[in-house]
Amino acid sequence: MCLWTEYALVSSSSALSGRRVLLIIGGGIAAYKSLDLIRRLRERGVSVRAIMTRAAAEFVTPLSVSAVSETQVHQSLFDLTQEAEMGHIQLSRDADLLVVAPATAHMMAQMAHGLASDLATTALLATDKPVLLAPAMNVRMWTHVATQRNLATLIADGVSVVGPGDGNMACGEFGPGRMAEPLEIVAAIEAKLAGTSNNASSKLPLSGKHALVTSGPTHEPIDPVRYLANRSSGKQGHAIAAALAKLGAQTTLVAGPTQMADPAGVDVVHVETAREMLAACEAALPADIAVCAAAVADWRVEHNAEQKMKKDGKSPPSLTLVENPDILKTISRHKSQRPALVIGFAAETENVLAYAQAKRTRKGCDWIVANDVSPDTGIMGGDMNKVHLIFAETHEDWPQLSKGDVADRLVHRIADYFEELV
Ligand code: CTP
Repeated sequence: MCLWTEYALVSSSSALSGRRVLLIIGGGIAAYKSLDLIRRLRERGVSVRAIMTRAAAEFVTPLSVSAVSETQVHQSLFDLTQEAEMGHIQLSRDADLLVVAPATAHMMAQMAHGLASDLATTALLATDKPVLLAPAMNVRMWTHVATQRNLATLIADGVSVVGPGDGNMACGEFGPGRMAEPLEIVAAIEAKLAGTSNNASSKLPLSGKHALVTSGPTHEPIDPVRYLANRSSGKQGHAIAAALAKLGAQTTLVAGPTQMADPAGVDVVHVETAREMLAACEAALPADIAVCAAAVADWRVEHNAEQKMKKDGKSPPSLTLVENPDILKTISRHKSQRPALVIGFAAETENVLAYAQAKRTRKGCDWIVANDVSPDTGIMGGDMNKVHLIFAETHEDWPQLSKGDVADRLVHRIADYFEELV
């Protein structure tokens, strides 16, 4: 028996209206924010069922959770009444999305290892639905190598993550570990559910649009065995291409050399150099959307050697560099085939907002996704990203998200942009 329809939905105008979330509340001080999260979701017409761990009930009462969600709270794997009404397997599969908030270090470790010791972890292991985590813990626990290893495993398993943010913590320390705010979690839920539909036959938001994405580094040859390159992994650009395709866009990904697998449902053109990347992009036009996420090498060697350069026992060779074509600028200023929406990236190590804003104007694109790629952020090559989305007049500061979630959220904004044009 499915009980989702038994409780009233408040709003029908929200993008989330009619969606079903199974909220798993872990045992941390941030559990108190789960009450506000439920309220925000209910305001948007979301049906919320909640599972609380034993530790969660030490921080917030099941009665409060039951009152705001307007339904029974599930706590035990061995509660015969609850099992008879709705078994734990059905509970884990009846939702559109499972949200773990707060996700403690212990719960993340259990999930990463596939442990199922209570109702919460059993539901997480038994589900066939997407999972979103909002981690919350002490800063040292978050930065601990074991937690980061578990995080990487979970992201590789397809789990999405929102936060944690920086701030003063209940334990008196400062740093990353604070649970994302309820509205940030709502936005992440919206982005996560944007690619899935209540109604399988409904049209996807970017159906009929052609999207062009660049991703990865470029390699600029010095001789047949050596090249100039950078540390870009292609994770962010590939995730954007996958997210565009998921929302229905016919997507062409022009990819520099990376270790990444080609995303499903995307037409991939593999290139090596900046000039090849530009040629492939121009050949892919016209497009409605262009997202230039590649870390294109700014320079190439003026004359690359046809044979391997040999040491001659004298001075090392000097390389004369010349500037590569700017692909983003070429697409943004294209006379006949400029896409309706052109988005660039700005990888900066200082003055991130100011440099990115100037870059937007200089290159002529519509939006810029700016991030701080200083070595201590771990963004270059890592799984997480913290970006600012820059428009002509304003900007948005996004919380720390996995690169997959940055992609989902960006593509959701792209879909909103085209919807507003209609
Ligand atoms: N870009 C491009 N072609 C280039 C260089 C950059 O398409 N030859 C694009 C990138 O894909 C990104 C944006 O331009 O979307 C900004 O890249 P970034 O490396 O941050 O900027 P640069 O152009 O290198 O500018 P600066 O040297 O000032 O950092």
